[in-house]
Amino acid sequence: MGAFRVVATCLHRSRYVFRLLIFILVVSLCTAVVFYLKVEDRGDYLGRLRGPHHLGHQIGVMEEFVPGLHLKGRPFGPRTYCNYTFRPLDSVDPWDMFSFDPSLSKPSVQLGEKGPYRVVYNIVPGQNASRGAITYCTHATPDFLYHLSELLLHWDGAISVTLFAPGTDAHLAAILVDKLCRCVPQMARVSFHLAFPKDLPPAKGDWMQDPDLKLGDCSPPAKKVLTQRRSQELTYPVNVGRNAARQASKTNFVLVSDIELIPSIGLNEQFAVLLHRLNERRNTLMKIRAASNWTGKGFVYVLPVFEVEPSASVPRDKEQLLQLYQKDRAVFFHRWVCPHCQKFPGLQKWLKRKGKPGFVQVRSFFCACNLLLKQNSICSL
Ligand SMILES: *[C@@H]1O[C@H](CO)[C@@H](O)[C@H](O)[C@H]1NC(C)=O
Ligand SMILES: *[C@@H]1O[C@H](CO)[C@@H](O)[C@H](O)[C@H]1NC(C)=O
Ligand SMILES: *[C@@H]1O[C@H](CO)[C@@H](O)[C@H](O)[C@H]1NC(C)=O
Repeated sequence: MGAFRVVATCLHRSRYVFRLLIFILVVSLCTAVVFYLKVEDRGDYLGRLRGPHHLGHQIGVMEEFVPGLHLKGRPFGPRTYCNYTFRPLDSVDPWDMFSFDPSLSKPSVQLGEKGPYRVVYNIVPGQNASRGAITYCTHATPDFLYHLSELLLHWDGAISVTLFAPGTDAHLAAILVDKLCRCVPQMARVSFHLAFPKDLPPAKGDWMQDPDLKLGDCSPPAKKVLTQRRSQELTYPVNVGRNAARQASKTNFVLVSDIELIPSIGLNEQFAVLLHRLNERRNTLMKIRAASNWTGKGFVYVLPVFEVEPSASVPRDKEQLLQLYQKDRAVFFHRWVCPHCQKFPGLQKWLKRKGKPGFVQVRSFFCACNLLLKQNSICSL
């Protein structure tokens, strides 16, 4: 089996009720939940998990999926599809997107003033950020930015991205954001926030001389760019990124995900319909579990995550995913890395239960983790 491409993930939650976050990705429910509480309870927890960068490297050798190859040959616009908060309209230098007043940088949500990171929100404010049920919240270093071009093919709602870009990585990020914003109209839906270590604020690098970046061209960089973060092996503060992206979202639900994880087509709208159905059934559902607000506070909806072979195209929905699964061309997330980690409860049942095209269903209200969750419940989609 090869380096896999990942397909679907998620979870959400309601935000106005709880400023708590949610995240979870992947689905050994209990493990995920314990981790979630850790994130919330311990201000010093930096989330030294692997961030968005763990896929290709772990599953062994094999061909690596290059995101954004479909952009090759697209006309490189003189016009940009993004709005920049700090970059003047007539500026030709991508770097200007970071010309913010340093006093605008804020401490990260969970680590506070004393923490080592700073965040500047909405460097690029997305359009229509409060439309739709869910904001896709994610985080990336600049070398992973081109995954957005794949995600935008499947996700039609708002996207909130924290760029972790220490030092000269910020300049690289500016160049790649500028490229994507001139090539992909859907970039208008993406909002960007910048996170960096206090002692490594954005700095200019010599990226403009790097032919691998293919300036003036829509193609992705010719090879994996070596970022300052990687060459200095700086910690990737994954939860700083997640929390900033979540904090800046404007919808009631967020789907906290890694940038390579691609949801089924139509999930956003189908989820809104699901909430509507649950609300209509609220009285019945209350009888099953008293005092619960099935569509509000404290509920986490978990989606299973799968990986597909690099040569397979990303499935549009559960039906296509199951076809790949039956041919052994898809496996549940991290099947070969840590089989018990992501093997979610009820996997076999989920696989047997046929999807209804265009319709997202709640599989079960799974309350086994109740104790850990302090009365919150998890619903598995
Ligand atoms: C920028 O924002 C303005 C006003 O908010 C909007 O009218 C315009 O369409 C936006 N432009 C781009 C390129 O997103
Ligand atoms: C924002 O919403 C309007 C109205 O629905 C739509 O016409 C426009 O295309 C949307 N913009 C983006 C970038 O999706
Ligand atoms: C339950 O949640 C819904 C949606 O989040 C909200 O509109 C409603 O006010 C909540 N009801 C209660 C009783 O908390």
